[in-house]
Amino acid sequence: MAIVVPIKNDKIKLFEGVLSGIPHDCLIIVVSNSRRTLTDRYIMEMDVVKQFRKLTEREIIMTHQKDEALAKAFRKAGYTAILDDTDLVRSGKAEGMIVGIALAKLCGKTYVGFVDADNYMPGAIWEYVKDYGAGFLLSNSPYIMVRLAWKYKPKWTEEPYFKKTGRISERANVYMNLLISKNTGFETKIVRTTCAGDHAMTLKLAECLPFASGFAAETQELLAIFEMFGGILPTTIREAVQHGVDIFQIETANPHIHEERGDEHVTEVLLHSLSALYHSPLCSDEIKREIHKELIASRAVKPKEPLSKPEIIPPIAEMNFKQFQKAISIEAFTTF
Ligand code: GDD
Repeated sequence: MAIVVPIKNDKIKLFEGVLSGIPHDCLIIVVSNSRRTLTDRYIMEMDVVKQFRKLTEREIIMTHQKDEALAKAFRKAGYTAILDDTDLVRSGKAEGMIVGIALAKLCGKTYVGFVDADNYMPGAIWEYVKDYGAGFLLSNSPYIMVRLAWKYKPKWTEEPYFKKTGRISERANVYMNLLISKNTGFETKIVRTTCAGDHAMTLKLAECLPFASGFAAETQELLAIFEMFGGILPTTIREAVQHGVDIFQIETANPHIHEERGDEHVTEVLLHSLSALYHSPLCSDEIKREIHKELIASRAVKPKEPLSKPEIIPPIAEMNFKQFQKAISIEAFTTF
């Protein structure tokens, strides 16, 4: 399994802890979009990785999302949807994840998992990766996704309070469940992980899913599975339907303690997630109206402002991988 760590200007201490929590047998792939001007945070991250690698002899690949050689390889592979108008890989967490998946494929991995770089508990990271493995072992299908439902998401005010969900998840889950309820005719609250950044997939599943830009990635993954294999819309990947696509939601033993980023960020992530839901062909007009009301109430959009569709990046399976492999040069990676 490869574990991808997307990072953008996170605290170096947290990044170091996250790396140390990843079980030894996994290949670590760090995809950074951290600041290179003023204080060059990528240099600091490289120092951490260099030291960690020296002490633990771990296999680590590290790249910067804005690396020209990386962008060139995607261009050669005809995968230009991931590039921005400066011809570099666009900023965004989903874009970082896609880079990670492509590198995991390049290294011949069967499984790819993601852990956020802003986690305060290295022991929780260790558990997350073990949970991914447990999920994979529960299924015989080559198309598996494991999403983590955090046991608690504590708030640290004067007294710690062990809340069950975060501010974004509790809203996004409502609409994901509504979408399933309305499409099946049976009310359900089954989805607890709409925004689970900590999740994993078989490479086989990861490479056939389209991704939504930025923070819509995790929401869009679920939607894409429902759209492509849910039996309501036509499918183009019959093999996956034959095997079945298994989604596991595993509740962690550890609480999830991560960086608190403030209201503006929470609104941005909620907007990305709900926009993906809004634009799904499975979303009815009634749910669209509810989503729009929710986003107006959270001041993510103005009344009457239309909800723009997230940028959809086509599946990795559609890129010319041989060309990518040929074009990707050692220059795209930080070597130690
Ligand atoms: N490479 C890369 N590029 N990493 C990024 C970028 C980017 O442009 N933007 C953010 N990240 C990294 C952050 O550094 C962090 O490690 C991780 O992605 C998650 O970002 P957060 O900003 O901490 O997300 P959150 O906790 O508020 O949002 C939650 O919900 C999102 C929506 O489903 C998390 O679970 C996210 O992982 C999730 O994407």
